[in-house]
Amino acid sequence: MARIDDLLLRVSDSQLRAELTSAVAEVRRTKDFGLVFESHLPETGRLPSHPVRRGVKVTERAKGEDSLYLVASINGPTAKLVPLRDADGIAIPAEEQTPVELSLTELVVVAEFGDPVYPGLRSVGSVRRGGDKPAHVVIDGENYHALEALQFTHAGKVDCIYLDPPYNAGRRDWKYNNNYVDEADIYRHSKWLAFMERRLKLAKRLLNPEKSVLIVTIDEKEYLRLGLLLEQLFEGAYIEMVTSIISAKGAYRRGHFSRVEEHIFFVSIGDAAVRPWVTNMLPSYRGVEDAEEEEDAAADDDLDPDEIVPEPIEWLGLRRREPSSVRGSRPNQFYAIFVNEQDGTLHSISHPIDDDVDRETVEVPEGTVALWPLKPDGAEMLWGLTPDVLRRNWAEGWARVNNWKPATKKGTVQYLPGGTIDRVHSGAITITGRASNGSVEGYVTPDITRGVTPKRVWHLASHNAETGGTNIVSALVPGRRFPYPKSLYAVEDTVRFVVGDKPDAVVLDFFGGSGTTVHAVMRLNRQDQGSRQSILVTNNEVSEREAARLTADGFGPGDPEWETIGIFQHVTRPRIEAAVTGMTHRGTPARRQYNYVDEFALSEGFEENVEFFELTYQDAAAIELDLAFEAIAPLLWLRAGAQGSMITSHSETGFAWTDRYGVLWDTDRWRAFISAAPDAATTAFIVTDSATAFTSVVSELPAGIEPVRLYENYLTTFAINQVEPD
Ligand SMILES: C[S@@+](CC[C@H](N)C(=O)[O-])C[C@H]1O[C@@H](n2cnc3c(N)ncnc32)[C@H](O)[C@@H]1O
Repeated sequence: MARIDDLLLRVSDSQLRAELTSAVAEVRRTKDFGLVFESHLPETGRLPSHPVRRGVKVTERAKGEDSLYLVASINGPTAKLVPLRDADGIAIPAEEQTPVELSLTELVVVAEFGDPVYPGLRSVGSVRRGGDKPAHVVIDGENYHALEALQFTHAGKVDCIYLDPPYNAGRRDWKYNNNYVDEADIYRHSKWLAFMERRLKLAKRLLNPEKSVLIVTIDEKEYLRLGLLLEQLFEGAYIEMVTSIISAKGAYRRGHFSRVEEHIFFVSIGDAAVRPWVTNMLPSYRGVEDAEEEEDAAADDDLDPDEIVPEPIEWLGLRRREPSSVRGSRPNQFYAIFVNEQDGTLHSISHPIDDDVDRETVEVPEGTVALWPLKPDGAEMLWGLTPDVLRRNWAEGWARVNNWKPATKKGTVQYLPGGTIDRVHSGAITITGRASNGSVEGYVTPDITRGVTPKRVWHLASHNAETGGTNIVSALVPGRRFPYPKSLYAVEDTVRFVVGDKPDAVVLDFFGGSGTTVHAVMRLNRQDQGSRQSILVTNNEVSEREAARLTADGFGPGDPEWETIGIFQHVTRPRIEAAVTGMTHRGTPARRQYNYVDEFALSEGFEENVEFFELTYQDAAAIELDLAFEAIAPLLWLRAGAQGSMITSHSETGFAWTDRYGVLWDTDRWRAFISAAPDAATTAFIVTDSATAFTSVVSELPAGIEPVRLYENYLTTFAINQVEPD
């Protein structure tokens, strides 16, 4: 309920109250200037892991958070509670606050947004295939509080935030204060805006002010209001809106235009710029006003206009074609290439055959076919490389048999010439992976100065939410459904435009859903051997239908029966694990192929690391006394770059280092701590109450190591970072 309504309730003169209420209603009806919304709608978050103690605010576990109590005392298994808000969220005047007694098991602690909370992380698993690359981090929790935690680890350090928030479609598709928001809710738009504004204000502090981009997808329901909100929050940034066709078939609406699109806001901060790419994103458009574009379009005419057409790598035939290159004209270039008769993969390469030896007498290993450099008329020619060079190139994936036909046992031997290999080394050609025959796959890297400028309307078949989203999710977690996954390729393209040239970018998504953003960032890394890191936050919400069924069966949030079917546990985590390992949650290889700028089997997985965490809530007193180190430990590791191992508990020596960061608990040990600092160290956390002790350790620290004072810095981060409505 709005604050003004709360204030009106406090007017004791009933006639004056009625007149004021009607005047306020009139103002609401007639005066809307720009983006007017009720930003004082209180929002609360559940802190299920927090113990119910005297002085905390609680709500009833099985009900919405609109009712709010203050715990006055704990009496064994029950608590005496002072009601602060009723079930509709209306503030209860002090004189009407009659205490009630409820069982502790019925209560859950809540924090009103604005109350300080002290977040921590609890590890709930990991998947590691990426050596010492920074890990992607996936957090199960309320995103507002996760954003607060990230203030400690990533203030000003994030290069790109990609968000696909609830669209507020009026279909009970998102919750405010644990209650679904539907069409009948008169505060529907205000709630959505207040919800977004609080989170975007925190998100803004994470973005690198020098150069970063916030991306938000949205549809017709809120795009106008979101645009104004972004203008308001990101003054001075360059804001553009792309319209993207996500289902050309269209959603039919009687008497209206069919909906085929959604929108993507790009908010570019500092020097951020959109990077040209291999397509203008609207390949079916044939411009008449731009002659050059017409030429390009004409060249593309026989291609499927909806497909991305990156320039392919050029392979050459290995058989020499010039008439002078007949057998015998040069040494060492007439030999047999033995390939598997079923699939044409390389078996071995023979030694050069002397000129006087009949090739038919050469022994062919079982199950293979010998390929010779023969013209179609049977004339014996030479191969373009000597056997030793060809063997080396084949091992690198720079040679292949193309178009192998097992029935006729024919195919063309191809190779990459030295110039092309040099372009691979220089990055002018991007290698995206290996084909099943071991040969490299990729495309000519678009030249940033000559690439194609993307348009503001996108129409690519790969961006279809069904084929690029739902089908990928079900190939990785068969039988498990997620209602709104984005197309993997759509997220990949969107993010590529802003961090395609930054192979160590940090990309955050705090409306993570099924985990598409982590998956897309891993694909980008594979395409250019990058080590971008994604951080994804999503809650463990269950669908409305499942919540109703579980409630009827007597289960509530926090019960394993409830939690195991929440989004994070049921979809996000197993989907990301399956994407990395290539194995579904059932332990079978994932079926399907990635079928975009690169083609390879989902079952190949990715050489990446992912750590999964649950957001926890700590007691400020326990932190000050250094009793909650375990819960803070992942935040220290995250702040230091999420690379390598983690310091998870106190060390008896009074300090500890990983390759990247260290913790000093006993400031008397500062000399030993500093002399043990590894070369790659980036951060030193120093636990001390004393500003003087901190300063003296810092003065001795090698340059390049950032000093952080625990827990002073941790506690002040959360005490000061409250985003109050303006
Ligand atoms: C539209 S979906 C995002 C889908 C995602 N782009 C994908 O491809 O799977 C929005 C997600 O945000 C989550 N969410 C909504 N409110 C949240 C909150 N306050 N904290 C954390 N996650 C939230 C929902 O559970 C939902 O999974």
